[in-house]
Amino acid sequence: MPNKWLFISGTDTDIGKTAIATGLLWLANNAGLRTAAVKPIAAGCEDSGAGLHNDDALQLQAIASHKLPYQQVNPVALEAAIAPHIAAQEQGKTLSASRLVGYCRGVALLPVDMVLIEGAGGWRVPINNRETLADVARELSCAVIMVVGMRLGCLNHALLTAEAIRRDGLNIAGWVANVVDADMPRLDENIATLQHLIIEPCLGVVPRLTNLTPEQVGGYLSLPVEFESQS
Ligand SMILES: Nc1ncnc2c1ncn2[C@@H]1O[C@H](COP(=O)(O)OP(=O)(O)OP(=O)(O)O)[C@@H](O)[C@H]1O
Ligand SMILES: [Mg+2]
Repeated sequence: MPNKWLFISGTDTDIGKTAIATGLLWLANNAGLRTAAVKPIAAGCEDSGAGLHNDDALQLQAIASHKLPYQQVNPVALEAAIAPHIAAQEQGKTLSASRLVGYCRGVALLPVDMVLIEGAGGWRVPINNRETLADVARELSCAVIMVVGMRLGCLNHALLTAEAIRRDGLNIAGWVANVVDADMPRLDENIATLQHLIIEPCLGVVPRLTNLTPEQVGGYLSLPVEFESQS
């Protein structure tokens, strides 16, 4: 059976994981794949009247072709926009990789070809005193997309993140240069450096956009080959 799991990670928080995830989902839908998307942990939620809801999860829910109830998209919704294990502690909750893996596996039982999982923060975000979110990706043997938020300092973050993903035994299906700082000095040279130093495929360079829609972002991306061949 082909791999269904695509884990979206990145160099930091707030660097475009959700933006790139929605672009990839748009592309996958267009290629005829049946998609589902999950944000297992979201820290930074607002009370919608029907429980805590997070904007990332709502965006993923809206674009995935298989419509899931909110709780399945985002099983752990935490109010404070802080490190997830601390937000969980403050709400009297304990996070565990095995429980998050269980939620994700439940989604994969549905008739879908791709389950996209958006991480929280960067690759090595703790979920408790023993585990990190990377353990969830590892347990599911996810193909990983690394989103690089193009700004000063990103070369170091990108290379360290790529090293950590590979050392965890996972396949980097590709990486994306997302221009979060349009005024980054020597942007082209920085992108060329990453293209030279990261052996895995670059799936696109997304400029700083004024009107950020899944379709617009998707227009700058290609699907990882693992998923192209399924369509
Ligand atoms: N290429 C882009 N052009 C314009 N705005 C962008 C671009 N990429 C991301 N943004 C904006 O930057 C902000 C952060 O992006 P996004 O929410 O996708 O980051 P993230 O890595 O998913 O953050 P988090 O760690 O909170 O999940 C958002 O307001 C988003 O609209
Ligand atoms: Mg996000």
